[in-house]
Amino acid sequence: MSQILSTHRLQGKNVLVTGASSGIGKSTALLYAQCGANVLLAARRLDRLQDIVAQARQLNPHGAHQAISLDMTSNEDISTILQRSTFPHIDILINNAGLVKGIEAVGDIADDDVALMYSTNVTGLIKLTQILVNHFKQRNNGHVVTIGSIAGIEPYPNGSIYCSTKHAARAFTNSLMKELISTPIRVSEIQPGLVETEFSEVRFRGDTDKASNVYKDLDPLTPHDVAEDIIWVTSRPPHVQTASSLIFPTNQASAALVARPGKSGV
Ligand SMILES: NC(=O)c1ccc[n+]([C@@H]2O[C@H](COP(=O)([O-])OP(=O)(O)OC[C@H]3O[C@@H](n4cnc5c(N)ncnc54)[C@H](OP(=O)(O)O)[C@@H]3O)[C@@H](O)[C@H]2O)c1
Repeated sequence: MSQILSTHRLQGKNVLVTGASSGIGKSTALLYAQCGANVLLAARRLDRLQDIVAQARQLNPHGAHQAISLDMTSNEDISTILQRSTFPHIDILINNAGLVKGIEAVGDIADDDVALMYSTNVTGLIKLTQILVNHFKQRNNGHVVTIGSIAGIEPYPNGSIYCSTKHAARAFTNSLMKELISTPIRVSEIQPGLVETEFSEVRFRGDTDKASNVYKDLDPLTPHDVAEDIIWVTSRPPHVQTASSLIFPTNQASAALVARPGKSGV
């Protein structure tokens, strides 16, 4: 299979995945390991990362995998990440860490929620990307992949802050791609629709009933589905740059247009 998909191009690559303790980031880190890459897994919950590193080692025993603590709201954590890593260099950055808090309408949104979503999804992402872009420029090689969202294309009610953070990440990523047009450094954005992860639990502040209702009667994307897209985008030949990849479950066609035909059981 790796011959057909050319994932052999990922063998020995060093990949930094943020938000690797859960959901899309975890699946992506494990799929990279399976493709023979070395994975630097970053998030706040280090205990979880250690377990995932152990799984990565089983999938790629010859690879070098490392768990590293990273709070995207901490300047110190971000600015020291390359020094704290045991990796000699990074080839691919997966900007995946992100979150949404609440469904309040404008006027009722807590300042703390605004600050947390912006510092994680926007300013933290920008700070980390600047560090890695300078690193990639020194090496004249690299790939930045931002996990955006349909929310970054189409804002919806009761998601104003999250949607605006994903619009900001999209604009930043797109500007970066244009700035790097004369270099071999690639820039891509993956824009998923509904993916069943801990994302909705975080949105509903731990209310698992409300979170599972989001995915009721439909087959959402799995984190693995998105990971496969990320692997595809980053394993193309060096002259191929996927600028953006919008990926939906089959029963979704926009942020708000979701059919609920019942679970297919597949
Ligand atoms: N699920 C969806 O429907 C969906 C759709 C479109 C886009 N997305 C995007 O996909 C990305 C991954 O989300 P997911 O669905 O996989 O959700 P998830 O399961 O909740 O995972 C989120 C990850 O982000 C990390 N994270 C959150 N805040 C952080 C911080 N301050 N510093 C460092 N890491 C932080 C979490 O790790 P720690 O808590 O351990 O730090 C966790 O590993 C996000 O950018 C999200 O916006 C999700």
